[in-house]
Amino acid sequence: MTWWQDAVVYQIYPRSFADSTGDGLGDLNGVRSRLPYLADLGVNALWLSPFYPSPMADGGYDVSDYCDVDPRFGTLADFDALLAESAARNIRIIVDLVPNHCSDQHPLFQEALTAGPGSPQRERFIFREGRGDAPPNNWVSMFGGPAWTRVEDGEWYLHLFDSSQPDWNWRHPATAPMFEGILRFWLDRGVAGIRVDVAHGLFKDPDLPELIGKHPNDAPSAYYHRPELAAHYRTWRAILDSYPADVFPGQRTAVGEFWGDLPEHVWPYLRQGGLPQLFNFPFLFTPWDPAKLRAIIDESLAASAPVPAAAPWVLGNHDVPRPVTRYGPDLATGTRRARAAALLVFALPGSAYLYQGEELGLPEVLDLPDSVRQDPTFRRTGGARPGRDGCRIPLPWSGTTPPFGFSEGPRSWLPQPADWVNLTVEAETADPASHLNLYRTALALRPSLDTGPFAWLDLGPDVLAFSRGADFVFAANFGTEPVALPDHRKVLLASGEISGSLPPDTSVWLQP
Ligand code: GLC
Repeated sequence: MTWWQDAVVYQIYPRSFADSTGDGLGDLNGVRSRLPYLADLGVNALWLSPFYPSPMADGGYDVSDYCDVDPRFGTLADFDALLAESAARNIRIIVDLVPNHCSDQHPLFQEALTAGPGSPQRERFIFREGRGDAPPNNWVSMFGGPAWTRVEDGEWYLHLFDSSQPDWNWRHPATAPMFEGILRFWLDRGVAGIRVDVAHGLFKDPDLPELIGKHPNDAPSAYYHRPELAAHYRTWRAILDSYPADVFPGQRTAVGEFWGDLPEHVWPYLRQGGLPQLFNFPFLFTPWDPAKLRAIIDESLAASAPVPAAAPWVLGNHDVPRPVTRYGPDLATGTRRARAAALLVFALPGSAYLYQGEELGLPEVLDLPDSVRQDPTFRRTGGARPGRDGCRIPLPWSGTTPPFGFSEGPRSWLPQPADWVNLTVEAETADPASHLNLYRTALALRPSLDTGPFAWLDLGPDVLAFSRGADFVFAANFGTEPVALPDHRKVLLASGEISGSLPPDTSVWLQP
């Protein structure tokens, strides 16, 4: 088994993890300073969201230089130090590659603007004439509004996201070699893999056809899930596999951010011999319902059967509402469910990703004042969609008032709720029953669990239960009444208090 097949990977959103300079913005040295915390938590790898030079119009997913570090986050030397210090703790680093689009400040886009219509420089992006004063077609941006912006000379360029994020032309002969160079740049530095942003994007139907009928979101379309992706990712796979697997950090991986409106839009990528892994978003979006969870777990295990663990379980990331709030309906219930879900994720066969703050049980912050919101979605939809700032609030580390040890400066780039005083790492470390201590115990126990064959156990319609080999049983109660615990020799861990029976919204690890 290769390391990524059972790894627990911790996602760091660098702006919001830890600030070492006092400017209110997290940075790479902040991550370095918290490596003891991450090692103690028991994670095997870190995925770093973008830290590259960027105007930060989309939190760094608008990259203006793919092979450097934004001065606000540090330097390449800081990155190398982070890599070395992580390796010393047996923690691998995964970086984020953003191939669908760049920033409008990227030198090649600036050159394309200057060079004007008809120039070879414009071919690197998707520039077109409009239809009179209207854009070239009716595509809309994922963040709201049209997917086209007009430049001074009258041409329009395509951006599936913010107008500051022009899409690359993946049919241009220089695009693939450029990204292969970027991939090698980070692999040569020693990263264990990459996370591929908008992995289902990149290639567009060259005719840029008008969309007819209901606008698909993440379904196969003229701009998503194009057939060219299969061969493209096989090329990247060959590059990953060209790095030696027998020394640290081991076989290189890539995990694709493939969104689909239906699960069957994403499973085919598992059979194409391309990117080794993809996030299990169908699982993430399954509601708190035992039958639905059982069905999606079955589907996931079947889809990833050819390469076990190719679809890591995931409960959250920097784009989706936090699990405590999502599982709701109120914070207390949502928190109980999120704890039960964490034990589920860490007991299932394969790898799991967790997003910073999930281990603290942070809720989504829903009441941010409009004036501090930064996600372009908020602006582009005129406030109709609040955007993703609520899951990107800087982490509370210690103390009793904001910024809760996140920064030595007076404030963090997004304000933290004052009532997070009981959710700091410091406070939760002191509370044996905290979310954090549940995560720590689960991750400490996880390597010793029986990883034998997975089999469902039938304990009634309200209970999700399975065994792994002869020595491990998982059970979760989704009903409203306590249920009897399955026969067992030992309770290894429970997500809440149990006393002879399993209460509602609680899960347990047992030795049968
Ligand atoms: C991905 C990122 C998201 C970003 C978008 C555009 O979905 O996860 O944060 O806004 O791509 O790059």
